[in-house]
Amino acid sequence: MGRGEDMAKIALGVTSSVSIYKACEIVRGFQKGGGDVQVIMTQNAAKLVSPLLFTSLSGHKTIVDLFEDDHPWSVAHVSLAREIGLLVAAPATANIIAKFAWGVADDFLSTFYLTVECPVLVAPAMNEAMYLHPQTQENLARLRARGVEFIDPDKGYLACKDEGWGRLAAPERIVGRGLELLGKTESLKGKTALVTAGPTREFIDPVRFLSNRSSGKMGFEIAREALLRGARVILVSGPVNLVPPARAEFIQVQSAEDMEKAVIKAFPKADIVVMAAAVADFAAAEPSLRKIKKLDLPEALKIVPTPDILKKIAARKKGQMIVGFAAETENLRAHALRKIKEKNLDLIVANDVSEEGLGFDSDFNRALILNGRGQGRPTDKVSKRELSRLIWDRIEESLGKKS
Ligand code: PMT
Repeated sequence: MGRGEDMAKIALGVTSSVSIYKACEIVRGFQKGGGDVQVIMTQNAAKLVSPLLFTSLSGHKTIVDLFEDDHPWSVAHVSLAREIGLLVAAPATANIIAKFAWGVADDFLSTFYLTVECPVLVAPAMNEAMYLHPQTQENLARLRARGVEFIDPDKGYLACKDEGWGRLAAPERIVGRGLELLGKTESLKGKTALVTAGPTREFIDPVRFLSNRSSGKMGFEIAREALLRGARVILVSGPVNLVPPARAEFIQVQSAEDMEKAVIKAFPKADIVVMAAAVADFAAAEPSLRKIKKLDLPEALKIVPTPDILKKIAARKKGQMIVGFAAETENLRAHALRKIKEKNLDLIVANDVSEEGLGFDSDFNRALILNGRGQGRPTDKVSKRELSRLIWDRIEESLGKKS
C-alpha cells in the first residue's frame, strides 16, 4: 500500500478504557503499514483523552458526535462506511461489544458498525470479571458467529490493580491482524462469483413440497467472504430465513428448475461458481394444481430426478472455475473423487452430513477440500464463517495456478 489515493482507509473506533493510550500506537502502526486512519471516539472516551490528540496523529478530524454538523460527508456514517476497508474497535469496552452484539445504535461508533460491510476487528479491554461474565462471553460469541474477528485480551496487570484477563492485546498484534484482513479485501477485485445457497422446494401440490434441511448458512457465508475479498457476487438462493449480504445481487428461487434457469442466465458473467445449494434431487412427476385430498392420495408418489445444474454448467464452462459441494453420509473421499470426475469440477468441498451438530442447519462444518486432481486435506470442525475463508483461500490458490 502506498501513500495518497491508493491508501487503504481504516476506521479506528476508540472507547473508554484506561488502555486508550495504546490507541495512539495502533494509529501509528496502521500508518506505518500504509493505512490512512480515521478515528471515531465514543463520548466517554473523549472524556479520558482529547479527540485533538487523535486528530493530530491521524490528520483527520476525530469523529465523536453522530450529529456534528461539520462532517465533510453528507450522511457521515453511511458515506464513510463506503470508503473504508476495515473497522477496528480498540480498545473495545464491554459496553461497545454489547451494543455491536445486539444492534444498539445510539452513538456514531455503534451506528457506524451497523452500516459497514468490510471486515470488523475487535480488541476487548476490560476488567477480568467483566470479560469472563457469561453475558460478555455470550456477546462475544454472537459477534464471532456474525464473522467479527477478535484479538483476545492478554492476562496481566489491569487498571483495577488486579492481575487477570482483560488487558488490551499488544498494539503490534492488533495492527498485524488488521493489515492481514485488509490485504484480503482486494484479492478478488474484478472477479464475479456466482454462489448458490439453501434448499429447493419441489411442490407436490400448492401447499406441500419435497425439500431438505439446508438453512443457506454455508452459501451465504461463502457469498459474504467473496464480497469481503472485493468480488462482485450474484447469490442465487432457495427459500431461507437469512438476510442476504447488502452488496450481493440476490436472486431468490423456489425449485431446482428455477435455480437452474437463474444459474444458467448468470453463468456467462461469472468467473467462479460455487454451488453450495442443496438442490433437491427429486421432484414430483406431475404436481397437482389443487391440494391433494386425503381420500385422493395416490398409492405411490411418482417422482422424477431434477436437473443436475452443476453438471450442466460445467459442460458449458469457458475458463470459469467451478466449485461443487458433496453432502455425504459415508465414504466422503471416494464420493468426492467420483463427483469431481462426473461433474468436471475444479474444486470440491465434501462434507459429512451425518455428524451431529455439523453440516445442515448448523453454524459449524468440517470439510474435505479437494482440487480437480483429487489433492487436498480435511479441515477441522470450524464455523461456516471460517470454512468459507478456507474455501476461498483454496479457490484463490487454484486461480493463481490457472492464470
Ligand atoms: O445450507 P446449510 O444449512 O448451511 O448446509 C450446508 C450444506 C450441508 C447444504 C452444504 O455444505 C452442502 O453440502 N451443499 C451441497 C448439498 C448437495 O446437494 O450435495 P450433493 O452431493 O447432493 O450434490 C453435489 C453438488 O451438485 C452440489 O454442489 C449441489 O449443489 C449440486 N447439485 C445437486 C443436485 C442437483 N440436482 N443439481 C446440482 O447442481
